Amino acid sequence: MARVLVVGIATLDIINTVDDYPEEDAEVRASTQAMRRGGNACNTAVVLQQLGHQCSWAGTLADDASSVMIRDDLATYGVNMDAVQVVAGGHSPTSYVTLNQRNGSRTIVHYRDLPEYSLAAFQQIDLTDFDWLHFEGRNVEQTRAMLDIAQHQVPAVPRSVEIEKPRKAVESLCEGTKLLLYSRNYAQSHGITNNEMSNPVAFLQTQQQTIPTAEHICSWAGQGAWGVDQQGKVLHSPAMDLPCVVDTLGAGDTFNAAIIHTKLAGLPLADCLRDACQLAGQKCTRQGFQGLC
Ligand code: ADP
Ligand code: FRU
Repeated sequence: MARVLVVGIATLDIINTVDDYPEEDAEVRASTQAMRRGGNACNTAVVLQQLGHQCSWAGTLADDASSVMIRDDLATYGVNMDAVQVVAGGHSPTSYVTLNQRNGSRTIVHYRDLPEYSLAAFQQIDLTDFDWLHFEGRNVEQTRAMLDIAQHQVPAVPRSVEIEKPRKAVESLCEGTKLLLYSRNYAQSHGITNNEMSNPVAFLQTQQQTIPTAEHICSWAGQGAWGVDQQGKVLHSPAMDLPCVVDTLGAGDTFNAAIIHTKLAGLPLADCLRDACQLAGQKCTRQGFQGLC
């Protein structure tokens, strides 16, 4: 069991399942509607909890009705919330998800109106309590400062950063990090001018040359995931061959949890990729995260 601090947002996900993805300006009826707690770092935390670790979440919570649901869900999984910053009068981040039953794809419209976790709140955390620190690549300036504090206070504690969206200066979060987890969306937007790019190898190799001290990983949906280690060796794991993909919302967050879990166990990168694709694949066969491991 390891103690893991995750820094990022929690969301309320409103998920409409449809038979097929609608045309623009169409009207369709959802076959089901669900409301769930989401957010990348929190999703990763609830999977890590199920893998036997003790996670603490550092993020902001509003004080509206949705925040009660968010808090209750995280409490169900045993995620520690001592470091949470409550924003009075805030509005919980809400994600409107259209889940296509035909292929499990998820299309998301985000509404965000809650301040990000502050550096001042982060400075209150005793980082010596943790074996691993995981950050969402958002709120870039403050997150960079948090990473620097971690480097200064607990240099031996590994740090991972998820680089998901191409935000301004987000690459500044890569420096000094042991494990970088990129999304396909980020790799594709990163200025590698191969329009046919069907894998992230060139992107990962470029990243590895820039930050040779880190391992660089990018998941690629139904094609699995690629990684490049500190020696520049490229590794690939195929995705699971699934008879039916039910729900891919949070597959990447599950993948990240499994990577952290396998890294904590000291597995070589090839095994980490294999196990992470397996767990993320299992997640795709079910709604949500409950009973995943
Ligand atoms: P995200 O949820 O961040 O968009 P991905 O779509 O890359 O992340 O999915 C993460 C992992 O989930 C993939 O590496 C793969 O192992 C698994 N996965 C996603 N979609 C599928 C699928 N259609 N079939 C099998 N595995 C999948
Ligand atoms: C899935 C997810 C959802 C949330 C959104 C936030 O990866 O974390 O739960 O709505 O992404 O970006």
